[in-house]
Amino acid sequence: MSSESEIAKPGLEGVIAGETAICCVDQGKLLYRGYPISELAEKTAFSEVAHLLIYGELPNAAQLKKFQDQLSAFHGLRPEVLSALRTIPADAPMMSVLRTCVSMASHFDPVDGQEVEALQRRAIWLLAVASDVVAARFRLLNGKEPIKPKPGVSHAHQMLYSFHGTEPDKLSVRLLDLTLVLYAEHDFNASTFTNRVVASTASDMTSATVSAIGALKGPLHGGANEEAINLILQFKSAQEAGVWVRDALAKKGKIMGFGHRVYKNGDHRAVILEGEMRKLAAVKGRQDLVAIYDAIKDPVVNKEHPIYPNVDYPCGLVYYLMGMPPDLYTPLFACSRIAGWCAHYIEQIQNNRIYRPLSRYIGPPLRSVPPIEKR
Ligand SMILES: CC(C)(COP(=O)(O)OP(=O)(O)OC[C@H]1O[C@@H](n2cnc3c(N)ncnc32)[C@H](O)[C@@H]1OP(=O)(O)O)[C@@H](O)C(=O)NCCC(=O)NCCS
Repeated sequence: MSSESEIAKPGLEGVIAGETAICCVDQGKLLYRGYPISELAEKTAFSEVAHLLIYGELPNAAQLKKFQDQLSAFHGLRPEVLSALRTIPADAPMMSVLRTCVSMASHFDPVDGQEVEALQRRAIWLLAVASDVVAARFRLLNGKEPIKPKPGVSHAHQMLYSFHGTEPDKLSVRLLDLTLVLYAEHDFNASTFTNRVVASTASDMTSATVSAIGALKGPLHGGANEEAINLILQFKSAQEAGVWVRDALAKKGKIMGFGHRVYKNGDHRAVILEGEMRKLAAVKGRQDLVAIYDAIKDPVVNKEHPIYPNVDYPCGLVYYLMGMPPDLYTPLFACSRIAGWCAHYIEQIQNNRIYRPLSRYIGPPLRSVPPIEKR
């Protein structure tokens, strides 16, 4: 019989794969460096949260200004990256474009060095690069040239301005900012774990970030916010959605935007965002979409073994109500999560041991290589 240590753990379920002081995710609480997500969502903006994750503490006014000034100074893509961006086929998914262009930008990394201070500045640079890539791609696809970044505004304001080229309304800035705060960090999820595995080989921060973008793209992870809105939009009425979801559950189908490896009684972030989604839908006069949202949700949360919405379910609808095209949703998630990834990169390399788990072999037993004419 296998001993406990010889039993394979698919998906590493229940395995504690390392220690972190960055984030605590459990059913009872979600903390970024000790602060509850509900308080951060209410009282801080994304730049403060990014500072908290990357530097370990919330910034005072002077530190925040310095952080924002650095972020502003890093905005603006190099011409070489813009040229590469123009060559990517129009139908390439935005996450693939982001992956390629962050990688391309790394050849022109303006930050020297591998010490912690340099890594912290590189993290700020990566935040600027990612949002610039997404904005430039969005504008090019819409037949417009990328625009110069706007200095002295919040990161969410800057992002919306660089998409649309006009001053964003206050509600959109606040809601984008809130989603960036909620998406910024979530301990050893798949993309962050990917990032830490790459960090553990002593590879560079940008390689770890590019790998994490690839992991986040998947529909079981960050790609779920795009899948969730596509699900909602496929129905013309709440009734139609209700029929579909009952049938899908009976067939053991997967409902995108629901379920979570850690949260089995609901996702803290989804609760916060759902309230905002309802208010936004009222402002926009789109109760029809909320009715479809609820018609999908109710049978899933009320079944014998309930499954709850994760953050991606309300987020998909929030972004849609803000007028964002679905292809942008997972990239927006990435633009925020870079703060968490980089914090984990720094933490990993400061107390590193290369990740190298074992596997249990289930292939053919020992055999000899036959001569080619006998195969
Ligand atoms: C997030 C996710 C990958 C977690 O996977 P996991 O921890 O391996 O959970 P499991 O697949 O073991 O799910 C446990 C049970 O709930 C069911 N379940 C989980 N998520 C479900 C969903 N979204 N829709 C329907 N059933 C679901 C599973 O079928 C399984 O049922 P069973 O016990 O009868 O076999 C999974 O819930 C999922 O694929 N969700 C949809 C994608 C998504 O929203 N991802 C974003 C996550 S933040």
